[in-house]
Amino acid sequence: MAKVTIDGAEVEVKDGLNIIEAAKAADIHVPHFCYHPSLTVVGQCRMCLVEVEGMPKLQAGCSTNVKDGMKIHVWNEKVDKARRGQMEFLLINHPLDCPICDKAGECPLQDYSFNYGSVESRYGEFKRTYPGMDRTAIGPHVVQNMNRCIHCTRCIRFCQEITGTSELAFFKRGASTEVGVFAGTPLDNWMSACVADVCPTGALTTREFRFESRVWNLDSTESVCNGCDVGCNMFIGHRNGQVFRYRPRENPDVNDHWLCDYGRFSYERYDTDRVVVPKVRNDDGYLGIATWNEALDAIEKALRPAEKVVAIASANMTNEEARVAKSLFEGVGARVGLTVDPIDPIRMKSRTEWLVGTQAAPNYRGVAAIVGENEIPSMDGIDVLYICDADFSQRTKDPAFIASLRKAKFLIVHSWDANHPLNEVADVLLPATIHVEKEGSYTNLQGRVQEIHAAYPPKGQAIPDVEIFARVAARVLSEERVAAGA
Ligand code: SF4
Ligand code: SF4
Ligand code: FES
Repeated sequence: MAKVTIDGAEVEVKDGLNIIEAAKAADIHVPHFCYHPSLTVVGQCRMCLVEVEGMPKLQAGCSTNVKDGMKIHVWNEKVDKARRGQMEFLLINHPLDCPICDKAGECPLQDYSFNYGSVESRYGEFKRTYPGMDRTAIGPHVVQNMNRCIHCTRCIRFCQEITGTSELAFFKRGASTEVGVFAGTPLDNWMSACVADVCPTGALTTREFRFESRVWNLDSTESVCNGCDVGCNMFIGHRNGQVFRYRPRENPDVNDHWLCDYGRFSYERYDTDRVVVPKVRNDDGYLGIATWNEALDAIEKALRPAEKVVAIASANMTNEEARVAKSLFEGVGARVGLTVDPIDPIRMKSRTEWLVGTQAAPNYRGVAAIVGENEIPSMDGIDVLYICDADFSQRTKDPAFIASLRKAKFLIVHSWDANHPLNEVADVLLPATIHVEKEGSYTNLQGRVQEIHAAYPPKGQAIPDVEIFARVAARVLSEERVAAGA
């Protein structure tokens, strides 16, 4: 361990840590552009200059490691002057188009230019521009505006060191240096949109989020991706009950600073009509809008006399939902089946290792540990089938599979997607919630239990699934059983 003094504060940090990281331990921010904790250090933007007592020149905080007894100044006149000078160079050619830039509001270049930039420019010449490179789609998800680039190489290093795909490189020389892709090789890897996260300017933005919302108009909620069983930590960016983006939330043990493109844009599946009211099939076979009480009456009427009940749990359920569902299904003597779809393996890099997601849902392991790992039984002779999530498998879109489920005499379905084909064949359809509307937890492939949080309330008369199970249990189980389950 090394004892160092940073701006008068004494901290003890791991020997060999660089000054930027050591200063973090003292809650002091060292401005930087090219340094990224998960990429190699290149020391080329010179924004991180600090003064180290005993050293003749200012030192780069990213490439200088601490030693016991070091006295470091992150904030003093000398350092401040150097940073202002560096900002002046970086802004010489920058278009300063924050008002129309999607990075504005969360842009290190913008923030630092507020802190260190000058309101006046001493540069009277024409700015260098990259004609024709101000809105270039360099891959399916990433749009480049080369005029905003400060040549920090974070994006290039990401593609070399994390995905190993090396699509990006510097082309040309000197002041004309540009970041680009090789002819015929677009930026099209499975984590390509991460370059927009690592870019400290608005040079790289995602096609999906461009011009959708100013970032300061979004609320942010901590959650976990439900795209696969890796369980990447993320922020949900949302406003007025609509998701605008997912952003990675740093967790060195799971997804470090990253999200895969599939997971990052998986919120687009919620861009559909929702089931917002319960529905019950009447004696004429018509599935009509009902109140919650009418829906619960119909469920009670079907479940109470039923002798053979099957429930299909879902790997999309939270652990909390699975627990309440288990007590309900035990109470009515239901056999519970569980399945999960395989997915083409998704590799995700934690700080120390690669994790490989192989399941198309976030919580098979958690739900299986609670309700058991039983196959879905045949529906022949089944009185009631209770489907906890219409989306429990892609097979639920297959008419033959739907027909096999419909062999059950009575079908109860939780569903959020108004266009889901299972809705039409249900006897009772219950309006359920999507994962960004839920509180609870998922267990990922490492066995790590991670919390998810509701970004906004459920739509219409939908209620959290955990509440649906509790309401049904209150109708069909004895008070003692309900109390025991709770
Ligand atoms: S595009 Fe962004 S991340 Fe890449 S070199 Fe330019 S400023 Fe850095
Ligand atoms: S690896 Fe899995 S959990 Fe992570 S972002 Fe991709 S789909 Fe989501
Ligand atoms: S962050 Fe140190 S030189 Fe760029």
